[in-house]
Formats: sequence, C-alpha cells, structure tokens
Amino acid sequence: MKITVCGKGGCGKSTVSALLAKEFERMGKTVLVADSDESNYGLHRQLGVKLPRDFTEFFGGKEKAFKTMMAGEILDTVKLSAFAKKFYSEPFTLNEIPEEYISRNNGVMLISSGKIHQANEGCACTMNSILKQFIKHLTVGDNEVALLDMEAGVEHFGRGVDNSVDLILMIVDPSFESLKLTKKIQQLGESIGKPVFFVLNKVNELVLPTMLESIDDQSKVLAVISTDTEIARKGLLGDELMMEIPEIHTLARKILKQ
Ligand SMILES: Nc1ncnc2c1ncn2[C@@H]1O[C@H](COP(=O)(O)OP(=O)(O)O)[C@@H](O)[C@H]1O
Ligand SMILES: [Mg+2]
Repeated sequence: MKITVCGKGGCGKSTVSALLAKEFERMGKTVLVADSDESNYGLHRQLGVKLPRDFTEFFGGKEKAFKTMMAGEILDTVKLSAFAKKFYSEPFTLNEIPEEYISRNNGVMLISSGKIHQANEGCACTMNSILKQFIKHLTVGDNEVALLDMEAGVEHFGRGVDNSVDLILMIVDPSFESLKLTKKIQQLGESIGKPVFFVLNKVNELVLPTMLESIDDQSKVLAVISTDTEIARKGLLGDELMMEIPEIHTLARKILKQ
C-alpha cells in the first residue's frame, strides 16, 4: 500500500508517519518512509536513523536533474546506473532502491528526496519531481507499506504525486487553517479518484467538537490523537519515537483494511 501523509506545517505529519511506520513494522510489514519535506530535519530523528543521502544525488544532483527535466528529456542515460534508467520508465521494488540512499532501523527504511543545504542552490521542484517518478514506478507487495511524509500544503497534488498512491491521509491539527484545508484536500482527492482519510491530532476535549464538524463525512476520521506530553517532549529534543500509542495501533489496522 502506498500512502501520502499530508496537511499544513506543524500539524504532525512527520510524527504520525514515524509512529505509523513503527506500528506497521510491529505488524510484520517492511516499511519505506519517503521524506519529501526539503526544509525539516526531524523525521529521521523520530525514526531513530541518520539523515539519508539526498536521493536527487542519484540523478546527478539538483542542477543536472533540473536541467534535464526542463528539457523534457530522460536523464543522461549513458552515465546512469541501470536502476536510474529503469526508475524513469518501469516498475521497481523496494529491494532495488540503492542501499547508499537508505537509512534503516530494522524493518523501517527511510529515503529522502533531498534537502536545501545552501542558499541559492535552487528550488525544491527537482527533488519533488523525482519523488513523483519514484512513487509512480514503485511497486509494493502485500507485506510492504510506503509512507510519503509530504511537504506542507497542497503543492504535491498540483505536481501529481498523489495520482500514484492508494490512500491520502490528512493530519488535522486544531487550527483554522487546518480545518479549511480538510475541504480542499477532500476535494483534491476526489478529483483524482483517491480516498482521503483524516487523523485529528493534538486534540483535547475543548477543540474536538469543532474539529469533527469540519469533516463532512465523519466515517473518514480514522483516528483522534490527543496532545501528548511524551510526544511533545521527544519532538522538542529530536528523540526517536519509541512509544506504542493505542490510537496509532488502531489506525494502522484501519488503513490496511481500506
Ligand atoms: N499528538 C501530539 N501531541 C503533542 N505534540 C505533538 C503531537 N503531534 C505532533 N506534536 C509536535 O508538534 C510538532 C510538529 O510536529 P511534526 O510532526 O514535525 O509536524 P509536521 O511534520 O506536520 O510539520 C513537533 O514538535 C511534534 O513533537
Ligand atoms: Mg514534517
């Protein structure tokens, strides 16, 4: 199953992705987490692994990949490995991803489309376009799950990344922007024929009724996660998320039933 995890900045996309990845692993799945947020550096720490090498480097780095994409050409195939050529045109499996771009923690693999490391080095479009190709051609088996921790907002819909996933999971935090975004993401998902489900995050009893009202079909709410001091503490320190949360346990099972 291939899943995008999306929502506004700071709503908890990376936190839920990391907790879900570890839950799927406990269920015996092999899990690929793809970090597609070029500006945040928290996800690898939440998963307890080192920051993976930018996957964009596999395609000759941002500048080269960008020029090739702007020219509408397949990347310079002479200099690319067999996998890099295949990646643009044919299905591939998790086992075929080059090991030097993966950070592993037992059954959880993390890859990163790339980060902005220096001023003036170029926009994130190249990295995200590579991710789109990656998701399109990635095939996952019954015992595998791919979780895409997206950049904030809805640009990934515009780029077409979500066209190739099985399910869109929107994380909703208690803010006006998030509640507004639920409608937009529902509509964007419907327009491409993809199911959209919601996780209400950082919830307390005061905000829950208003959050629920913002979702037209409440059967689409797969989990309600409270504001949790242990999650907040680990988020502050950049620590690995080792805890088992009952709502995440249920969420993982509900996702696999869709
Ligand atoms: N349920 C929660 N309870 C407490 N803090 C949370 C919860 N979910 C996320 N956070 C905190 O909120 C901050 C933003 O979360 P993060 O997952 O990085 O958001 P995003 O990836 O959407 O930008 C982090 O400091 C994280 O620890
Ligand atoms: Mg994040």
